[in-house]
Amino acid sequence: MIKNSELGFDIRFVQPEDILRIRQRVLRPNGKLEECQFPKDYDERGFHLGLYTGKVLISIASFHPEEVPFKIPEKYLSTAFPRASSQKEGNKTEETLIAFRLRGMATDNPYAGQGWGAKLLREAERYLLAKNCHLLWFNARRVAYPFYSRLGYQFAGDAFDIPGIGEHKQMFKFLK
Ligand SMILES: CC(C)(COP(=O)(O)OP(=O)(O)OC[C@H]1O[C@@H](n2cnc3c(N)ncnc32)[C@H](O)[C@@H]1OP(=O)(O)O)[C@@H](O)C(=O)NCCC(=O)NCCS
Repeated sequence: MIKNSELGFDIRFVQPEDILRIRQRVLRPNGKLEECQFPKDYDERGFHLGLYTGKVLISIASFHPEEVPFKIPEKYLSTAFPRASSQKEGNKTEETLIAFRLRGMATDNPYAGQGWGAKLLREAERYLLAKNCHLLWFNARRVAYPFYSRLGYQFAGDAFDIPGIGEHKQMFKFLK
């Protein structure tokens, strides 16, 4: 358990098996259950979170350490880490940042738009920061751009297509 709120919800560590059905329903409604597994689901350095009200699983997200596959614009780096970005040697700046990737962010259909996803992601950010992770990144679906933007995530590059799913953009945020 990472958060037990008096407001009637809690956020727990969960196993991939606990969240596959919601992944399928929300993220791959036309896909098979097996297709909803991610290669790093069982990476022991990663973790999965579920937001529950009572016994009902409402919102899910998965996290694992993974290098950032794009160059972070210098303007963000120097604002977030003025000392690190003044280092001169090669790409050291980015190597010193522990980066995690978010995958499979989803709120089950009946509960979307009620603030649950934001609660889950904010709590995950706090937890990651406490683990010394300062950078969270992911490939965002077009439909979710406004959700992530509202939570302070920035775009890193141009849109690209993931076959069968559609337009995505890479997004990131420095956790502070
Ligand atoms: C994207 C998703 C995870 C957001 O979770 P959620 O629980 O519905 O989001 P919340 O209710 O916490 O929304 C937080 C804020 O983002 C806004 N928001 C969420 N989805 C939005 C959308 N599609 N368009 C515009 N704003 C949106 C909300 O209005 C809210 O703003 P507020 O704080 O001003 O009220 C969820 O809608 C979902 O599962 N979508 C389908 C799957 C998906 O696209 N996942 C992301 C893959 S990258």
